[in-house]
Amino acid sequence: MKLLFKKEAIQKVKADTVVVFLHEDKALREKENQALLKRFGKPSLAAIESGDFKGKLSEIAINYLSSDRRLFLAGLGEKSKVSLETLRRAAAGAVKRARKSRSSTIAFEIPQTQHAPADTITALGEGTILGLYRFDKYLTKKEESGTLEQAFFCSEEKRFSSASKSLAEAQIIAEATIHARDLANAPGNEIYPETLAKAAEDAAERCGFEATILDEGEIESLGMGGVMGVSRGSSHPPRFIILEYGKSSSRTVVLVGKGVTFDTGGISIKPSAGMAEMKMDMSGAAAVMGTFEAAAGLKLPVHLVGLIPAVENMPGGNSFRPGDILRHYNGKTSEVDNTDAEGRLILADALAYAERYKPSAVIDLATLTGACVVALGHYATGMMGNDAKLMEHLKAAGEKTYERVWELPLYDEYEKLIKSDVADVKNVGGRWAGAITAAWFLKKFIGDYRWAHLDIAGTAILEEAGDYAPKGGSGIGVRLLTEFLRHWK
Ligand code: BES
Ligand code: ZN
Ligand code: ZN
Repeated sequence: MKLLFKKEAIQKVKADTVVVFLHEDKALREKENQALLKRFGKPSLAAIESGDFKGKLSEIAINYLSSDRRLFLAGLGEKSKVSLETLRRAAAGAVKRARKSRSSTIAFEIPQTQHAPADTITALGEGTILGLYRFDKYLTKKEESGTLEQAFFCSEEKRFSSASKSLAEAQIIAEATIHARDLANAPGNEIYPETLAKAAEDAAERCGFEATILDEGEIESLGMGGVMGVSRGSSHPPRFIILEYGKSSSRTVVLVGKGVTFDTGGISIKPSAGMAEMKMDMSGAAAVMGTFEAAAGLKLPVHLVGLIPAVENMPGGNSFRPGDILRHYNGKTSEVDNTDAEGRLILADALAYAERYKPSAVIDLATLTGACVVALGHYATGMMGNDAKLMEHLKAAGEKTYERVWELPLYDEYEKLIKSDVADVKNVGGRWAGAITAAWFLKKFIGDYRWAHLDIAGTAILEEAGDYAPKGGSGIGVRLLTEFLRHWK
């Protein structure tokens, strides 16, 4: 799907489907209707005149301008309440409907909103590409529908004159998000540490950043006992993926992504119901890779380092076990109380490794705890960290992109819950505050840098379709971090 700007009035644009946005406010809608009648030269737009179409968000009325040209009236809800998220949802609704009627081109009239023109256009573009996403690679008989190939965004107004640039940016960011979704949705028999590393190398080649892959021997000699321990039960050896972009910039941000390509729980095995979802336990890694793709595509002026410990957590004769003590990259030891709390064990090595880059910030993303899903559900990412300014920036980026984050307290009192009698720290903290004790574990391994931890267990894995994401991997984190990186100083 290609996003294109046309400095032309919508009624003159050639497209199979033409979309005009309308509002719920009655007087406004009547005015908009009059304008439509004039522009499209139709005697009547019955959906509006009959009162059937109210202009509510997600409402679509289809008019036929001819047998092969449709005019969609698409509701945006009340004008004063139109947010960037409204625009994403409305665009997604329209493209999905247009694809169903086998349109191959669609044209949107860019609506008037209270938002900056660039933001309005980016939101519409994102909704268009993300809304059309399907994970149908493995279906030998695909769902019957057309393929939308081009979306035009149309306006004659001067304020939208730089729309082409906004659309090109939206295209890059949305495609990076889709690639993160594809990686997360790919099954465990396709994506395991070696193939995740290969995917990173391919993305690096395609998008213009560097990827260095450390193999099992190198991981072992570096002393990354967490990565080594967790991966021992699997026939797939671990990989440690290092991405790098923008070396000449002086400001360094390290992104760390949990890359558990499948999490059975190991010896502390998970119940089988729902275990299949754990093919997405590398969603943090996918988000980091997608962010690199977007940052390189947008040529962001930042030095980015990506660290992805990649392992498969399996039970077996060689598995690490409860009671084992692991020694991590920085020399600290951890007692394994539960092999299903594996994410923190591999992240510990990566977070300690991050120190060598002297970063201005380190952000880790991980599908880390079921407890975070219990606390926040699927609509907010749990955030903890050691720096208010960094977390404020992430919060702002979350509101803008609607990949919202919510801070949980990392109070000192929680630290004692992960105290061990035999090692420096224990990998589980008992029944309460599981998202927080997991973050406290990570905090034990960070270096002298600003750090934020994002627990994306609920937001990366969707149990139900959203407005512009099907059930499954959401690709969360790509838009959030890209927006964050644009503003972080
Ligand atoms: N990958 C899981 C967390 C998870 C759960 C992600 C649900 C997405 C959806 C993680 O490795 C895990 O198993 N955590 C345990 C920790 C517990 C043993 C302390 C959990 O949350 O139950
Ligand atoms: Zn686990
Ligand atoms: Zn896990």
